[in-house]
Amino acid sequence: MATLRIEGGRPLAGTVSPSGSKTAALAAVAAALLLPGTSVIENVPAIRDMAVMEAILRHLGVPHEPTGARWVIDGSRLGSWRVPPELAKHIRGGLLLLAPLLARFGRAEVGLPGGCVVGPRPIDLHVKGLTLLGAEIRVEHGAIVAEAPRGLAGREVYLDFPSVGATLQLLLAGVAARGCTVIHHAAKEPEVVDLAMFLARAGARITGAGTDQVRVEGGMPLQGVVHGLLPDRIEAGTYLLAGAATGGRVRVSGVIVEHLRAVLAKLAEAGVQVETEPGLVEVSAPGPLQALEVTALPYPGFPTDLHPPFAAVLTRAEGLSTIIDVVFANRFAYVEEFRRLGARVTVESGTVLIHGVPALQGAEVWAQDVRSAAALLIAGLAARGQTHLHGAEHLRRGYAEFESKWTALGARVTWED
Ligand code: UD1
Repeated sequence: MATLRIEGGRPLAGTVSPSGSKTAALAAVAAALLLPGTSVIENVPAIRDMAVMEAILRHLGVPHEPTGARWVIDGSRLGSWRVPPELAKHIRGGLLLLAPLLARFGRAEVGLPGGCVVGPRPIDLHVKGLTLLGAEIRVEHGAIVAEAPRGLAGREVYLDFPSVGATLQLLLAGVAARGCTVIHHAAKEPEVVDLAMFLARAGARITGAGTDQVRVEGGMPLQGVVHGLLPDRIEAGTYLLAGAATGGRVRVSGVIVEHLRAVLAKLAEAGVQVETEPGLVEVSAPGPLQALEVTALPYPGFPTDLHPPFAAVLTRAEGLSTIIDVVFANRFAYVEEFRRLGARVTVESGTVLIHGVPALQGAEVWAQDVRSAAALLIAGLAARGQTHLHGAEHLRRGYAEFESKWTALGARVTWED
């Protein structure tokens, strides 16, 4: 377990840019394995999930060259349909390899996913969707085993919840299937649109990505592409929230402002000054903040991944704030840790209640997943004195170039081991 020492109580100030989107990067690698040619993915974030993905490519015998943020992947040669549990267990994104491996081999075996601890994370929507498209799926010895010896066939699929992962999976499968696939109640997240753009460049016919009904004409001839990933809106939002929580002034460039709309609206509602230009957001929070109600929802609602970091901002807002998370209803891992820092926060009937306090105090805290680690980092930066954040290695899963970016904002953070 890695520990980060945080010297808090100083307003952050400076300019920083997010790396490419983590979710989009994982999906783009899966897409590259669908194409019988060479693809170039640009703006790949240097995060741990991508290091695991790279190890998976090596295991599958896929010729590839990850040169910094530019990955060249030759999808024409795949040596195996098996992603072993010891690799798959580290990331949730490995699940997305089911569709391309099924398409290429008629079978796939992917170890059950790991990823963040944010309550139960079932895979039933992935299984139901692929089954409708003609795959036979079972779980055996800790792995998902899928078979479609006669190939996949397009169908109408309704998702019980607009799951990002299941929508990405069905886009990939739909492109490989014969005939037309329609995803109803699809996720509308920008990362879904990014994957659709990647696939469309490769020759796929997709309409409606970014709406709740996505249509894919499968079986088109595909070729390798060059694709630049969209900026990571969650990483960008984390810097803005850190600026607000510490009473500082933080500018984030290289963003798509529209993707941050819900977060910026809630920051403004709390009394944070928000200014935007195309590609740029600046927040400053010199004065007191007001309590408010937040509900994390599928896009374009407030993003669940910024729920814990936003809670850190609300610890200093005057009055009673509430947070409900509709996407991950049990995303409470940070709550007890916040209390160690002196925050007044409880959970009642699935709602987080936060009574603002004048200031947090540094303490020892423990992170269990990447976004609770980000929330504790922000709270530690806002708190007076020193915080020791244990489990800080989780930050490596979502925040590329961690030291240089946070130092550019004036954060005083040191790894202790
Ligand atoms: C992705 C992101 C994650 C983000 C989430 C929501 C990655 C690797 N993960 O996760 O950071 O928090 O989108 O924006 O980029 N569900 C089911 N059955 C399924 C799949 C999902 O019930 O088969 C449920 C989940 O438990 C959750 C909800 O659907 O309650 C949304 O999950 P989903 O959108 O699929 O998140 P992920 O794709 O896992």
